Amino acid sequence: MEKSKANINYDDVVIHVDKVSKSFGDLHVLRDVDLKLYNRENLVVLGRSGTGKSVLIKLISGLLNPDRGDITVLGEVVNRLTDKELRALRQRIGFSFQNSALYDSMTVRENLEFPLVRNKRNLSRAEIDREVEEVLEGVGLSRAINQMPSELSGGQRKRIGIARTLILRPDIMLYDEPTAGLDPITCLDINSLINEVQERYNTSSIIITHDLACAKMIGDRMVMLLDGKFERQGSFAEIFDTDDERVRPFYDYNFIV
Ligand SMILES: Nc1ncnc2c1ncn2[C@@H]1O[C@H](COP(=O)(O)OP(=O)(O)OP(=O)(O)O)[C@@H](O)[C@H]1O
Ligand SMILES: [Mg+2]
Repeated sequence: MEKSKANINYDDVVIHVDKVSKSFGDLHVLRDVDLKLYNRENLVVLGRSGTGKSVLIKLISGLLNPDRGDITVLGEVVNRLTDKELRALRQRIGFSFQNSALYDSMTVRENLEFPLVRNKRNLSRAEIDREVEEVLEGVGLSRAINQMPSELSGGQRKRIGIARTLILRPDIMLYDEPTAGLDPITCLDINSLINEVQERYNTSSIIITHDLACAKMIGDRMVMLLDGKFERQGSFAEIFDTDDERVRPFYDYNFIV
């Protein structure tokens, strides 16, 4: 089933990676790459291990600097910002990492309050409670509010990790392998959640994944990183309509043809 792309605004580029190169010593990870993320779009990034997908996310969030080229996020050139400006910009970006690092000694409620209290210091107790309850409801885990992370399944922890990011109302979400290590049904659950987040919070997202079912379900558009370039771009069907030996195994392995 094709996703509706009715809400995507192709006139509004929220992330622009413009002729960016990044090397580590003589390892040329990204070579002159171009990429755009449009407002309210879910963009899936595919690619083998070690091709530079996580490096791309680190460049976008200013954790690494490009050797060449510019990266514009929400109208600001990330690689030219001061530390203070970068901190402010990062508040508008949500990260979902592979290991949703929750604080094990805190309840779910406390885990969710933490970013709010740290970043928005003038909220009242009632406002904090309301935000926590709303975001928990948004990820379908209201009942877990008083539980400890150790009492939750991997999929539930992932949801809480996403909720903790959403509580700051980011404009952009960056998901690095959101379904890694989860069973197929929980993967479907998380994929649905990513689509719900896009609709409910009007986020624009980049999703890195090796899971093609995930890519197909959530991606409005897909790009594949091959030898330091986004050589293949388009819909799921367009990406895999090829005999390219570097691309076929992704499809064949996922769909056992
Ligand atoms: N800070 C760094 N210093 C040196 N090399 C690095 C650094 N960060 C990443 N690399 C190298 O850049 C390459 C790309 O790494 P990256 O983490 O982006 O891969 P990836 O595509 O995310 O892989 P995976 O699918 O396994 O997560 C790797 O060879 C890695 O060793
Ligand atoms: Mg990675």
